[in-house]
Amino acid sequence: MTKLFSPIRLAGLELANRIVVSPMCQYSADDGCMSDWHLAHLGSMACSGAGLFVVEKTNVTREGRITHGCTGLYSDHNEAAMARAVQIYRGITKNPIGIQIGHAGRKASSQVPWLGGKALGATESPWQTVAPSAIPFGEGWHTPRELSRDELRGLVGAFVAATLRAKRIGFDAVEIHSAHGYLLHQFLSPLANRRTDEYGRNRMKFPLEVAAAMREVWPKERALGIRINATDWMDGGWTPEDAVAYARELKRIGIDFICVSSGATVPHAKIPAAPGFQVGFSEKVRKEAGVKTRAVGLIADPGHAERILAAGQADMIAMARAILDNPRWVWHAAERFGVKIDYPPQYARVQPSLWPGSKLARPQREPA
Ligand SMILES: Cc1cc2nc3c(=O)[nH]c(=O)nc-3n(C[C@H](O)[C@H](O)[C@H](O)COP(=O)(O)O)c2cc1C
Repeated sequence: MTKLFSPIRLAGLELANRIVVSPMCQYSADDGCMSDWHLAHLGSMACSGAGLFVVEKTNVTREGRITHGCTGLYSDHNEAAMARAVQIYRGITKNPIGIQIGHAGRKASSQVPWLGGKALGATESPWQTVAPSAIPFGEGWHTPRELSRDELRGLVGAFVAATLRAKRIGFDAVEIHSAHGYLLHQFLSPLANRRTDEYGRNRMKFPLEVAAAMREVWPKERALGIRINATDWMDGGWTPEDAVAYARELKRIGIDFICVSSGATVPHAKIPAAPGFQVGFSEKVRKEAGVKTRAVGLIADPGHAERILAAGQADMIAMARAILDNPRWVWHAAERFGVKIDYPPQYARVQPSLWPGSKLARPQREPA
């Protein structure tokens, strides 16, 4: 049995395999409500065979959206639209489904990537952004307003309210977005948090308050995970040692898994992107904090994914672009390792053993 296709338990959940569809913004919502695009997207991901699919960064307030097209869980309309999409997912697979919950902070009010990905211009309905300190993400970005302590209390409430909506929709897992330079990570990073109050002297304070409040309302038998950064890739920024200290606190709160990512705190960081370039961070957090971790970042080959798990560098592998590129990635990996997996019955005849008159594998693409 491969590690990749061995089950894993996260709280009361059992994932059939270690492959996770990484959260991916689709920028296709209307005032936070999932659209027809999401119905197709969730349907496609439900067929993937991945042990867990995590819905895109979904925002706890309207102002917390990155773009006008980002999903939210701040209204009854948002909740109803998402419940419909999840119902479609449930009609296809028994594999669990999770949702990432977050707030963009100073990176909010920006254009969708295919319209530029920059701060919204004056004629594009921009909005006032908020952050730990009034420091813009980069040149040309909005200057955020520093959050007051009252507003921070309100935001903890917004994270809890969104978590309760996710619970009502019936998600199996919630993942807190505390990475990639969004609000919770802005509090953690010295590059974005220059406060002099207790939220600056103890930069973990606000994200830990959010995580603890979410843990309190999220059922123990469903999984509560978090995505963190291991580094800002900048001198004077957040470091792997900080990530370990944070992970230890998160474990104490009762977080069930940690996805270890990096970067996106400031636009000018130099990131040494290469296959598996963040895996070492996952290994460090896993070993030094004693938590289940998920590795992510340029992992696209099943053999590579298997080696990471076999070497004890992670407990799960998250994939974003490789699975968008090939939503049948899991089927093909199972085939390569000789593992039998469940297909949606409507598609079951693509299994190599069922090709009529042939015991051979399905015809392969011709080499380019
Ligand atoms: C289209 C797209 C949307 C993304 N949206 C999110 C998101 O909502 N939340 C998040 O934490 N990361 C997001 N990411 C980052 C991915 O989850 C992943 O961490 C990153 O792409 C590296 O993995 P990969 O090399 O397998 O693509 C997104 C990536 C892509 C390509």
